[in-house]
Amino acid sequence: MLDLVAEHAPYRAELQSAFDRVLDSGRFVLGPEVEAFEREIGAWIGTPHAIGVSNGSDALLLALQAVGVGQGDEVICPTYTFFATAGAVARLGGVPVFVDSAECCYNLRADQVAAKIGPNTKAIIVVHLFGQCADMDPILAAAKKHGIPVIEDAAQALGAKDKGRQAGTMGTLGTFSFFPTKNLGALGEGGLVTTSDAALAEKIRMLRVHGAKQKYFHEMIGGNFRLHELQAAFLRVKLKHLDSALDQRRANAMKLMTELQDKWRAIMPLDSCICQGQGFSADQKPGTILLPFSCHSGQGEHTWNQFVIRVTGKGKRDTLREKLGAEGIQTEVYYPRAMHEQECFQTGPQSFFAAQKLTQETLALPLSDDTWIPKFP
Ligand SMILES: Cc1ncc(COP(=O)(O)O)c(C=O)c1O
Repeated sequence: MLDLVAEHAPYRAELQSAFDRVLDSGRFVLGPEVEAFEREIGAWIGTPHAIGVSNGSDALLLALQAVGVGQGDEVICPTYTFFATAGAVARLGGVPVFVDSAECCYNLRADQVAAKIGPNTKAIIVVHLFGQCADMDPILAAAKKHGIPVIEDAAQALGAKDKGRQAGTMGTLGTFSFFPTKNLGALGEGGLVTTSDAALAEKIRMLRVHGAKQKYFHEMIGGNFRLHELQAAFLRVKLKHLDSALDQRRANAMKLMTELQDKWRAIMPLDSCICQGQGFSADQKPGTILLPFSCHSGQGEHTWNQFVIRVTGKGKRDTLREKLGAEGIQTEVYYPRAMHEQECFQTGPQSFFAAQKLTQETLALPLSDDTWIPKFP
Protein backbone atom coordinates (compact mmCIF):
# COMPACT_ATOMS: atom_id res chain seq x y z
CA MET A 1 0.00 0.00 0.00
CA LEU A 2 2.98 2.23 0.54
CA ASP A 3 5.31 3.42 -2.22
CA LEU A 4 8.59 3.54 -0.35
CA VAL A 5 10.60 4.37 -3.46
CA ALA A 6 8.48 7.49 -3.98
CA GLU A 7 8.63 8.31 -0.27
CA HIS A 8 12.44 8.32 -0.31
CA ALA A 9 12.88 10.10 -3.64
CA PRO A 10 12.94 13.64 -2.18
CA TYR A 11 15.66 12.64 0.35
CA ARG A 12 17.73 10.51 -2.00
CA ALA A 13 20.82 12.73 -1.99
CA GLU A 14 20.72 13.13 1.80
CA LEU A 15 20.34 9.37 2.30
CA GLN A 16 23.22 8.69 -0.03
CA SER A 17 25.47 11.13 1.76
CA ALA A 18 24.49 9.48 5.11
CA PHE A 19 25.51 6.14 3.59
CA ASP A 20 28.87 7.57 2.46
CA ARG A 21 29.48 9.06 5.90
CA VAL A 22 29.01 5.69 7.59
CA LEU A 23 30.99 3.84 4.96
CA ASP A 24 33.90 6.23 5.41
CA SER A 25 33.72 6.06 9.21
CA GLY A 26 34.36 2.32 9.42
CA ARG A 27 31.96 2.14 12.41
CA PHE A 28 28.87 0.06 11.75
CA VAL A 29 27.20 -0.85 15.04
CA LEU A 30 26.41 1.38 18.08
CA GLY A 31 28.66 4.30 17.19
CA PRO A 32 28.39 8.09 16.83
CA GLU A 33 25.40 7.94 14.46
CA VAL A 34 23.37 5.93 16.99
CA GLU A 35 24.38 8.33 19.77
CA ALA A 36 23.42 11.37 17.68
CA PHE A 37 20.14 9.76 16.65
CA GLU A 38 19.30 8.98 20.28
CA ARG A 39 19.92 12.64 21.23
CA GLU A 40 17.91 13.99 18.31
CA ILE A 41 14.92 11.70 18.60
CA GLY A 42 14.93 12.05 22.39
CA ALA A 43 14.66 15.83 21.94
CA TRP A 44 11.94 15.45 19.28
CA ILE A 45 9.85 13.21 21.53
CA GLY A 46 10.73 15.19 24.65
CA THR A 47 12.18 12.37 26.72
CA PRO A 48 15.42 12.40 28.68
CA HIS A 49 16.44 8.86 27.70
CA ALA A 50 16.08 7.36 24.22
CA ILE A 51 17.85 4.07 23.54
CA GLY A 52 18.20 2.83 19.98
CA VAL A 53 17.67 -0.91 19.61
CA SER A 54 17.34 -3.61 16.95
CA ASN A 55 13.57 -3.37 16.29
CA GLY A 56 10.21 -2.66 17.92
CA SER A 57 9.66 -6.26 19.04
CA ASP A 58 12.97 -6.29 20.90
CA ALA A 59 12.20 -2.85 22.32
CA LEU A 60 9.12 -4.39 23.98
CA LEU A 61 11.12 -7.36 25.22
CA LEU A 62 13.75 -5.06 26.74
CA ALA A 63 11.15 -2.84 28.39
CA LEU A 64 9.41 -5.85 29.93
CA GLN A 65 12.70 -7.35 31.10
CA ALA A 66 13.75 -4.02 32.57
CA VAL A 67 10.65 -3.89 34.78
CA GLY A 68 11.30 -7.47 35.89
CA VAL A 69 8.74 -9.49 33.91
CA GLY A 70 9.68 -13.16 34.06
CA GLN A 71 8.29 -16.67 34.35
CA GLY A 72 4.59 -16.74 35.24
CA ASP A 73 4.16 -12.98 35.54
CA GLU A 74 0.96 -11.59 34.11
CA VAL A 75 1.04 -8.64 31.73
CA ILE A 76 -2.20 -6.95 30.69
CA CYS A 77 -2.40 -6.02 27.01
CA PRO A 78 -5.00 -5.66 24.27
CA THR A 79 -6.03 -8.72 22.28
CA TYR A 80 -6.56 -6.59 19.17
CA THR A 81 -2.97 -5.66 18.34
CA PHE A 82 0.07 -6.76 16.38
CA PHE A 83 1.54 -10.05 17.57
CA ALA A 84 4.78 -8.54 18.95
CA THR A 85 2.92 -6.92 21.87
CA ALA A 86 1.83 -10.22 23.38
CA GLY A 87 4.72 -12.20 21.88
CA ALA A 88 7.26 -10.20 23.90
CA VAL A 89 5.48 -11.17 27.13
CA ALA A 90 5.54 -14.85 26.21
CA ARG A 91 9.20 -14.70 25.13
CA LEU A 92 10.05 -13.90 28.75
CA GLY A 93 7.87 -16.69 30.14
CA GLY A 94 5.16 -14.23 31.11
CA VAL A 95 1.44 -14.65 30.56
CA PRO A 96 -0.42 -12.10 28.44
CA VAL A 97 -3.75 -11.21 30.03
CA PHE A 98 -5.94 -9.86 27.27
CA VAL A 99 -8.43 -7.02 27.38
CA ASP A 100 -10.98 -5.99 24.79
CA SER A 101 -10.76 -2.92 22.62
CA ALA A 102 -13.05 0.02 22.13
CA GLU A 103 -15.04 0.31 18.94
CA CYS A 104 -14.36 4.02 18.72
CA CYS A 105 -10.58 4.27 18.42
CA TYR A 106 -9.72 0.55 18.32
CA ASN A 107 -7.57 1.08 21.42
CA LEU A 108 -7.81 -0.92 24.61
CA ARG A 109 -10.67 -0.42 27.03
CA ALA A 110 -9.43 1.40 30.09
CA ASP A 111 -12.21 0.09 32.30
CA GLN A 112 -11.25 -3.49 31.45
CA VAL A 113 -7.60 -2.83 32.25
CA ALA A 114 -8.52 -1.82 35.79
CA ALA A 115 -10.80 -4.86 36.14
CA LYS A 116 -8.04 -7.29 35.15
CA ILE A 117 -5.37 -6.08 37.57
CA GLY A 118 -4.66 -8.86 40.05
CA PRO A 119 -1.97 -10.07 42.47
CA ASN A 120 0.20 -11.47 39.64
CA THR A 121 0.01 -8.42 37.37
CA LYS A 122 3.56 -7.28 36.74
CA ALA A 123 2.99 -4.72 33.99
CA ILE A 124 0.47 -3.21 31.59
CA ILE A 125 1.18 -2.71 27.89
CA VAL A 126 -0.90 -0.02 26.25
CA VAL A 127 -0.76 -0.05 22.46
CA HIS A 128 -1.36 3.22 20.64
CA LEU A 129 -2.95 1.53 17.67
CA PHE A 130 -2.76 2.79 14.08
CA GLY A 131 -1.13 6.05 15.19
CA GLN A 132 -3.59 7.21 17.84
CA CYS A 133 -2.96 7.28 21.57
CA ALA A 134 -5.12 5.26 23.90
CA ASP A 135 -6.86 7.29 26.59
CA MET A 136 -3.99 7.18 29.08
CA ASP A 137 -5.28 8.94 32.21
CA PRO A 138 -7.59 6.21 33.54
CA ILE A 139 -4.99 3.55 32.76
CA LEU A 140 -2.20 5.49 34.45
CA ALA A 141 -4.45 6.08 37.47
CA ALA A 142 -5.29 2.37 37.82
CA ALA A 143 -1.63 1.39 37.41
CA LYS A 144 -0.49 3.95 39.96
CA LYS A 145 -3.02 2.70 42.49
CA HIS A 146 -1.45 -0.77 42.31
CA GLY A 147 2.17 0.34 41.73
CA ILE A 148 2.32 -1.36 38.32
CA PRO A 149 4.54 -0.06 35.50
CA VAL A 150 2.94 0.94 32.20
CA ILE A 151 4.70 0.28 28.91
CA GLU A 152 3.46 2.22 25.91
CA ASP A 153 3.78 0.23 22.71
CA ALA A 154 4.08 3.23 20.44
CA ALA A 155 5.44 1.26 17.47
CA GLN A 156 2.77 2.83 15.25
CA ALA A 157 2.43 6.13 17.02
CA LEU A 158 5.61 8.21 16.96
CA GLY A 159 4.43 11.81 17.33
CA ALA A 160 0.89 10.97 18.46
CA LYS A 161 -0.37 12.92 21.45
CA ASP A 162 -2.86 12.47 24.25
CA LYS A 163 -3.86 15.80 25.80
CA GLY A 164 -0.62 17.35 24.60
CA ARG A 165 1.60 14.54 25.88
CA GLN A 166 3.74 12.64 23.40
CA ALA A 167 3.32 8.90 22.94
CA GLY A 168 6.15 7.19 24.79
CA THR A 169 6.44 9.81 27.53
CA MET A 170 3.38 9.02 29.65
CA GLY A 171 4.09 5.55 30.97
CA THR A 172 7.14 4.09 32.70
CA LEU A 173 8.65 3.17 29.34
CA GLY A 174 7.78 3.70 25.68
CA THR A 175 8.73 1.47 22.77
CA PHE A 176 8.91 2.32 19.07
CA SER A 177 9.52 0.56 15.76
CA PHE A 178 11.31 1.93 12.71
CA PHE A 179 10.15 -0.82 10.38
CA PRO A 180 10.05 0.72 6.87
CA THR A 181 6.24 1.09 6.88
CA LYS A 182 6.22 3.18 10.02
CA ASN A 183 5.86 6.96 9.87
CA LEU A 184 9.57 7.14 10.66
CA GLY A 185 10.90 4.09 8.86
CA ALA A 186 14.47 2.89 8.55
CA LEU A 187 15.83 1.33 5.37
CA GLY A 188 15.83 -1.90 7.31
CA GLU A 189 15.05 -2.61 10.96
CA GLY A 190 15.27 -0.40 14.02
CA GLY A 191 13.58 0.32 17.33
CA LEU A 192 13.70 2.60 20.35
CA VAL A 193 12.98 2.54 24.07
CA THR A 194 12.16 5.77 25.90
CA THR A 195 11.95 6.50 29.61
CA SER A 196 12.40 9.31 32.10
CA ASP A 197 13.83 6.83 34.63
CA ALA A 198 17.65 6.98 34.52
CA ALA A 199 18.09 3.61 36.26
CA LEU A 200 15.79 1.82 33.78
CA ALA A 201 17.59 3.53 30.88
CA GLU A 202 20.92 2.28 32.21
CA LYS A 203 19.52 -1.24 32.56
CA ILE A 204 18.22 -1.24 28.99
CA ARG A 205 21.56 -0.01 27.65
CA MET A 206 23.19 -2.99 29.39
CA LEU A 207 20.55 -5.52 28.31
CA ARG A 208 21.09 -4.29 24.73
CA VAL A 209 24.66 -5.65 24.83
CA HIS A 210 24.30 -8.96 26.69
CA GLY A 211 23.85 -7.36 30.10
CA ALA A 212 27.34 -5.85 30.31
CA LYS A 213 28.35 -2.32 31.22
CA GLN A 214 31.97 -3.20 30.76
CA LYS A 215 32.72 -5.45 27.79
CA TYR A 216 33.02 -9.14 28.77
CA PHE A 217 31.76 -8.53 32.35
CA HIS A 218 28.10 -9.55 32.41
CA GLU A 219 25.83 -8.53 35.28
CA MET A 220 22.58 -9.63 33.62
CA ILE A 221 21.47 -11.92 30.84
CA GLY A 222 20.66 -9.66 27.95
CA GLY A 223 21.13 -10.18 24.25
CA ASN A 224 22.26 -8.56 21.04
CA PHE A 225 19.73 -5.78 20.53
CA ARG A 226 22.08 -3.27 18.90
CA LEU A 227 21.04 -0.64 16.36
CA HIS A 228 23.18 -0.30 13.24
CA GLU A 229 25.01 2.90 12.36
CA LEU A 230 23.61 2.91 8.83
CA GLN A 231 20.03 2.75 10.07
CA ALA A 232 20.67 5.49 12.63
CA ALA A 233 22.20 7.69 9.91
CA PHE A 234 19.20 7.13 7.60
CA LEU A 235 16.78 7.75 10.47
CA ARG A 236 18.53 11.04 11.27
CA VAL A 237 17.87 12.20 7.71
CA LYS A 238 14.22 11.20 7.83
CA LEU A 239 13.69 12.63 11.31
CA LYS A 240 14.46 16.10 9.91
CA HIS A 241 11.48 15.71 7.59
CA LEU A 242 9.15 13.99 10.04
CA ASP A 243 7.09 17.04 11.04
CA SER A 244 6.22 17.84 7.45
CA ALA A 245 5.59 14.16 6.66
CA LEU A 246 3.12 13.96 9.57
CA ASP A 247 1.41 17.18 8.48
CA GLN A 248 1.01 15.68 5.02
CA ARG A 249 -0.47 12.45 6.43
CA ARG A 250 -2.94 14.45 8.51
CA ALA A 251 -3.97 16.51 5.50
CA ASN A 252 -4.35 13.35 3.39
CA ALA A 253 -6.44 11.72 6.11
CA MET A 254 -8.78 14.71 6.31
CA LYS A 255 -9.16 14.72 2.53
CA LEU A 256 -9.87 11.00 2.51
CA MET A 257 -12.52 11.44 5.22
CA THR A 258 -14.35 13.96 3.06
CA GLU A 259 -14.01 11.82 -0.06
CA LEU A 260 -15.39 8.78 1.75
CA GLN A 261 -18.34 10.76 3.06
CA ASP A 262 -19.10 12.06 -0.43
CA LYS A 263 -18.48 8.98 -2.52
CA TRP A 264 -19.13 6.06 -0.18
CA ARG A 265 -21.65 7.68 2.20
CA ALA A 266 -19.30 6.82 5.02
CA ILE A 267 -20.36 8.04 8.46
CA MET A 268 -18.72 8.94 11.73
CA PRO A 269 -19.64 6.11 14.09
CA LEU A 270 -20.15 8.14 17.26
CA ASP A 271 -20.45 11.60 18.72
CA SER A 272 -17.94 11.00 21.46
CA CYS A 273 -15.40 8.58 22.73
CA ILE A 274 -16.46 5.31 24.35
CA CYS A 275 -13.14 3.75 25.29
CA GLN A 276 -14.13 4.05 28.93
CA GLY A 277 -16.62 1.25 28.30
CA GLN A 278 -19.85 3.11 27.67
CA GLY A 279 -20.77 0.59 24.94
CA PHE A 280 -21.33 1.13 21.28
CA SER A 281 -24.37 3.11 20.22
CA ALA A 282 -26.62 1.62 17.58
CA ASP A 283 -25.72 -1.31 15.39
CA GLN A 284 -25.41 -0.05 11.84
CA LYS A 285 -27.04 -1.53 8.77
CA PRO A 286 -24.72 -4.23 7.28
CA GLY A 287 -22.36 -2.73 4.75
CA THR A 288 -22.19 0.70 6.41
CA ILE A 289 -18.79 2.34 6.16
CA LEU A 290 -17.63 3.76 9.49
CA LEU A 291 -14.86 6.36 9.40
CA PRO A 292 -11.89 6.20 11.73
CA PHE A 293 -12.71 8.02 14.93
CA SER A 294 -10.55 10.69 16.52
CA CYS A 295 -10.78 9.94 20.19
CA HIS A 296 -10.63 11.81 23.51
CA SER A 297 -13.01 14.53 22.40
CA GLY A 298 -10.50 16.12 20.08
CA GLN A 299 -7.71 16.20 22.64
CA GLY A 300 -5.75 13.43 20.95
CA GLU A 301 -3.51 13.92 17.96
CA HIS A 302 -3.55 11.12 15.41
CA THR A 303 -0.55 10.36 13.21
CA TRP A 304 -2.46 8.12 10.78
CA ASN A 305 0.19 5.44 10.48
CA GLN A 306 -2.78 3.46 9.19
CA PHE A 307 -6.11 4.81 7.96
CA VAL A 308 -8.58 2.16 9.09
CA ILE A 309 -12.29 2.16 8.31
CA ARG A 310 -14.93 -0.39 9.33
CA VAL A 311 -17.37 -2.11 7.04
CA THR A 312 -20.15 -3.41 9.24
CA GLY A 313 -21.65 -6.86 8.96
CA LYS A 314 -20.12 -10.27 8.46
CA GLY A 315 -18.30 -10.70 5.14
CA LYS A 316 -18.96 -7.12 3.98
CA ARG A 317 -15.38 -5.97 4.55
CA ASP A 318 -13.98 -8.87 2.53
CA THR A 319 -16.37 -8.22 -0.35
CA LEU A 320 -15.35 -4.57 -0.49
CA ARG A 321 -11.69 -5.55 -0.32
CA GLU A 322 -12.09 -7.91 -3.26
CA LYS A 323 -13.87 -5.28 -5.33
CA LEU A 324 -11.20 -2.68 -4.60
CA GLY A 325 -8.51 -5.23 -5.41
CA ALA A 326 -10.16 -5.84 -8.78
CA GLU A 327 -9.79 -2.10 -9.47
CA GLY A 328 -6.10 -2.26 -8.57
CA ILE A 329 -6.53 -0.63 -5.15
CA GLN A 330 -4.48 -2.30 -2.47
CA THR A 331 -5.84 -2.53 1.04
CA GLU A 332 -4.76 -4.39 4.17
CA VAL A 333 -6.46 -6.09 7.08
CA TYR A 334 -4.98 -5.23 10.46
CA TYR A 335 -5.62 -7.76 12.06
CA PRO A 336 -7.61 -10.76 10.89
CA ARG A 337 -7.13 -12.69 14.14
CA ALA A 338 -7.00 -11.34 17.69
CA MET A 339 -4.29 -12.50 20.09
CA HIS A 340 -6.56 -14.60 22.30
CA GLU A 341 -7.44 -16.65 19.21
CA GLN A 342 -3.84 -17.33 18.18
CA GLU A 343 -2.84 -20.96 18.25
CA CYS A 344 0.39 -20.31 20.11
CA PHE A 345 -1.24 -18.64 23.11
CA GLN A 346 -3.81 -21.33 23.83
CA THR A 347 -5.70 -19.14 26.25
CA GLY A 348 -8.73 -21.40 26.28
CA PRO A 349 -12.15 -20.16 25.27
CA GLN A 350 -12.36 -16.44 25.81
CA SER A 351 -14.63 -13.99 24.15
CA PHE A 352 -13.91 -10.37 23.36
CA PHE A 353 -16.92 -8.84 21.70
CA ALA A 354 -15.36 -5.77 20.11
CA ALA A 355 -12.01 -7.31 19.15
CA GLN A 356 -13.74 -10.15 17.37
CA LYS A 357 -15.93 -7.72 15.48
CA LEU A 358 -12.97 -5.53 14.56
CA THR A 359 -11.04 -8.49 13.11
CA GLN A 360 -13.96 -9.02 10.72
CA GLU A 361 -14.79 -5.43 9.90
CA THR A 362 -11.67 -3.25 9.77
CA LEU A 363 -9.94 -2.34 6.53
CA ALA A 364 -6.87 -0.15 6.05
CA LEU A 365 -7.00 2.10 2.99
CA PRO A 366 -4.08 3.71 1.18
CA LEU A 367 -3.29 7.21 2.36
CA SER A 368 -1.64 8.84 -0.63
CA ASP A 369 -1.73 12.43 -1.84
CA ASP A 370 -3.85 11.51 -4.84
CA THR A 371 -7.53 11.13 -4.69
CA TRP A 372 -7.78 7.47 -5.51
CA ILE A 373 -11.26 6.79 -4.19
CA PRO A 374 -13.53 5.42 -6.90
CA LYS A 375 -17.32 5.55 -6.82
CA PHE A 376 -18.55 3.08 -4.24
CA PRO A 377 -17.67 -0.25 -5.86
C1 LIG B 1 1.90 -2.39 17.70
C2 LIG B 1 3.23 -2.94 17.30
N1 LIG B 1 4.06 -3.37 18.26
C3 LIG B 1 5.28 -3.85 17.96
C4 LIG B 1 5.72 -3.94 16.66
C5 LIG B 1 7.03 -4.57 16.38
O1 LIG B 1 7.93 -3.76 15.70
P1 LIG B 1 9.05 -4.40 14.75
O2 LIG B 1 8.40 -4.85 13.50
O3 LIG B 1 10.01 -3.26 14.53
O4 LIG B 1 9.70 -5.51 15.49
C6 LIG B 1 4.89 -3.49 15.63
C7 LIG B 1 5.34 -3.57 14.23
O5 LIG B 1 4.59 -3.56 13.30
C8 LIG B 1 3.61 -2.99 15.96
O6 LIG B 1 2.78 -2.57 15.00
